[in-house]
Amino acid sequence: MQIIHTVPELRNALKSRPGIALVPTMGNLHAGHIHLVTLARQHAPCVVVSIFVNPLQFGANEDLANYPRTLQADCEKLEAAGADIVFAPGVQDMYPDYNAASHDLGQSMTINSPPVAKELCGASRPGHFDGVATVVMKLFNIVMPQIAVFGKKDFQQLFIIRELVRQFNLPISIVAGDTIREPSGLAMSSRNGYLTPEQKSAASALNACLRKLVDSIQQGSTDFTALEQAAAQALNKKGWVTDYVSVRASDTLLPAAGQDTRLVVLAAAKIGSTRLIDNIEFSRT
Ligand code: PAF
Repeated sequence: MQIIHTVPELRNALKSRPGIALVPTMGNLHAGHIHLVTLARQHAPCVVVSIFVNPLQFGANEDLANYPRTLQADCEKLEAAGADIVFAPGVQDMYPDYNAASHDLGQSMTINSPPVAKELCGASRPGHFDGVATVVMKLFNIVMPQIAVFGKKDFQQLFIIRELVRQFNLPISIVAGDTIREPSGLAMSSRNGYLTPEQKSAASALNACLRKLVDSIQQGSTDFTALEQAAAQALNKKGWVTDYVSVRASDTLLPAAGQDTRLVVLAAAKIGSTRLIDNIEFSRT
């Protein structure tokens, strides 16, 4: 496995490689990421994993400075998982006009995400999905993969990346990997590392509340607004600060309507100072 830090070196290494699958990550890898690498392996002979904590997708009060950077441990996991190349650029490699003294990224052109990027996570993280879409577009242009693999845990992100590929006519197939969970149901996330042991055992309530919501819908409840409010209240009672619980049509991410059968329930909530997200996609029976 090669570990590459600059764009010219990466382009050189990929010159004669047919069939590239890219797994974009921000590092601090867990079993969920490794599942995406395994999926990538099944789709292409050359698997590139990018590790880059992208400043453009973090808000001013978010955890950019503290975001765990664990390159050596990540590379060991990726070698064991069968990745071919790890691309771990510096900020100046991804943002050519970066000013290290002022931390200004110098990125005056960005991707304008679709309107849904202002809802759900986008409502409390303004600009987040523009930052994600911009860095993913850069990674696509640098690696030029035929396949790119993203996790369903970030359901809204996956939706926006699919739109990016569709609206910009990119010759890339997006493969979606299932969410990998702890035995408690807690979705694996790099941010779980911020949780105290007590918070970690309490954190399974997020998935439990979504499962309960799905059960209510499957039993015939159609007042989605009431269900969303009840789920948020139940979480808040358990000490969470709920950002949203939402029932959406899984193909469009629009608020679910009575006739929609393919649905996704999504939630974001804070336990202590850690913001976690989760979702369950399902078909109404
Ligand atoms: O999901 C992530 O880890 C990031 O948002 C991504 C897609 C690697 C872009 O920085």
